[in-house]
Amino acid sequence: MAKSKKGEDKDMGKVAIYPGSFDPITYGHIDVVERALEIFDKVIVAIAVNEEKRPLFSVEERLHMVKAFFKDTPKVIVDSFKGLLVDYVAKTNAIVILRGLRATSDFEYEFHMASMNRSLDTHLDTLFMMTSKDYFFVSSRTIKEVARLGGAVEGLVPDLVVRRLREKFKLPVTKKKHIRWDD
Ligand code: PNS
Repeated sequence: MAKSKKGEDKDMGKVAIYPGSFDPITYGHIDVVERALEIFDKVIVAIAVNEEKRPLFSVEERLHMVKAFFKDTPKVIVDSFKGLLVDYVAKTNAIVILRGLRATSDFEYEFHMASMNRSLDTHLDTLFMMTSKDYFFVSSRTIKEVARLGGAVEGLVPDLVVRRLREKFKLPVTKKKHIRWDD
């Protein structure tokens, strides 16, 4: 495929890569992808295979959930990668790494990661998007904890993810409501 000097692919346009564990994907992640599609022609959601972490969902399960959600969005490519992110990015047409920022607490981790990636590849930038206010408290970690303890995660993750979480934690497949302050 032909590439311009700036790394913009003539066939695919501007491509961003959105790496993460996505264990599981949440509406916070989806919000970042959807807003990025206003800026980029394609977004590659790249699921990291990290042998040191013990994810709840296998990489195949995570790929399936993300692909199912974006099945009607051809501008989103879903893939997985092993090893260094910069090496994976080099094999794609991406011009930038995309990451979501929920709160200042994310900043230090993200700053270190972006700086390390830039030191490994001096041409590679990381672009941060603030998560929308509706999802700033949502993380894969808290979703797993709440689901494991039987709490409601509907509306925070896609329905398929809700079902998969219930299967993993062997919970009944009934729909639960969020507990409201005035209940
Ligand atoms: O969703 P996460 O767990 O915060 O995502 C972190 C991820 C997967 C983006 C990061 O751990 C990563 O890029 N891993 C690949 C290995 C790598 O390149 N590490 C050096 C960057 S510090």
